[in-house]
Amino acid sequence: MALILHVRTAREQWWQAHLQSLLPEIECRLWSQPGNLNDIRYAVVWAPPAGGLRQFKNLQFIVSIGAGIDHVLADPQLPMDVPIIRTTGAQMTQRMREYVCLHVLRLHRGLDSQIRAQSSRQWHNVISPSADQRTVGVMGLGKLGAAAAATLVELGFRVRGWARSPHDQHGVYCFSGADGLADFLSQCEILVCMLPLTAETDSILNRQLFEWLPTGAHLINVGRGEHLHEDDLLAALATGQLGSATLDVFRQEPLPANHPFWVHPAITITPHIASMIDPETGGQEIARNLQNFVAGQPVADLVDARRGY
Ligand SMILES: NC(=O)c1ccc[n+]([C@@H]2O[C@H](COP(=O)([O-])OP(=O)(O)OC[C@H]3O[C@@H](n4cnc5c(N)ncnc54)[C@H](OP(=O)(O)O)[C@@H]3O)[C@@H](O)[C@H]2O)c1
Repeated sequence: MALILHVRTAREQWWQAHLQSLLPEIECRLWSQPGNLNDIRYAVVWAPPAGGLRQFKNLQFIVSIGAGIDHVLADPQLPMDVPIIRTTGAQMTQRMREYVCLHVLRLHRGLDSQIRAQSSRQWHNVISPSADQRTVGVMGLGKLGAAAAATLVELGFRVRGWARSPHDQHGVYCFSGADGLADFLSQCEILVCMLPLTAETDSILNRQLFEWLPTGAHLINVGRGEHLHEDDLLAALATGQLGSATLDVFRQEPLPANHPFWVHPAITITPHIASMIDPETGGQEIARNLQNFVAGQPVADLVDARRGY
């Protein structure tokens, strides 16, 4: 009985040793050295190559190293009958809350203009509105979105949330479905995208959506790069329809050195670090899920591949 591991090469030895120590009863093999393919019962993967998982005929389940499963579903030859377990956990939720609050507060208090003022020795003495006068919108009220929205409520912001199905969350004015989108956006001065990437959400951050926002609104995208229509963003920043964009995720990662986003004065870039999985605790969660699955116990974060997230 063996497990196959597909992670970035730089970290694969570490992951292999870590998972092996947590799962001594299972042989943990690297993707490049799979051995007998029929031994492979479990796959623990980030962005496996297309057609790769199909070759393991005895595969019982796939673990996504991360909260999203889009990088697994991207494989057109994925064996759709094999269950997928995503990896979340308290630390990921905490990290995402930190990132979202950091940037919402940065935009809310105009920190960028204070830093610019310091560089030219200007005493930029302005009064910014308090949080209860600022509306923040959260797209996606799942594990990460709901937690970030709750923290924004605690900070005193007026918080709106949007999801696929109706939600009821303390302090959050909730909207749902395509019909509720324009209404949801109409008041959002800061918009945070924490959606999963699906056929429905691909390129959702586009010109029409920006026009539904109040003029000068700020965008934070921590979902996936494919949520954003890049040319529409540049156009909306040029007209002032959007005030700024803070982007953690990109269509191409790493973002190519010649990409215009790097030097745009209204774009802040972070390299997909909003909520990275900590291999130490992430590995523990993966091992726990695997052991529960094998023992027939309930497994956290089992996802329905057909729903797409
Ligand atoms: N940048 C980073 O470091 C980082 C780290 C981790 C995750 N992420 C991204 O964050 C995403 C969300 O993670 P999560 O754990 O919160 O996911 P989740 O628990 O699956 O929640 C997804 C949320 O999005 C909503 N949604 C899905 N499709 C929708 C649609 N068509 N229209 C409106 N709402 C829709 C869902 O609505 P319902 O509640 O009605 O189902 C749900 O509220 C991940 O998929 C990943 O792409 C990024």
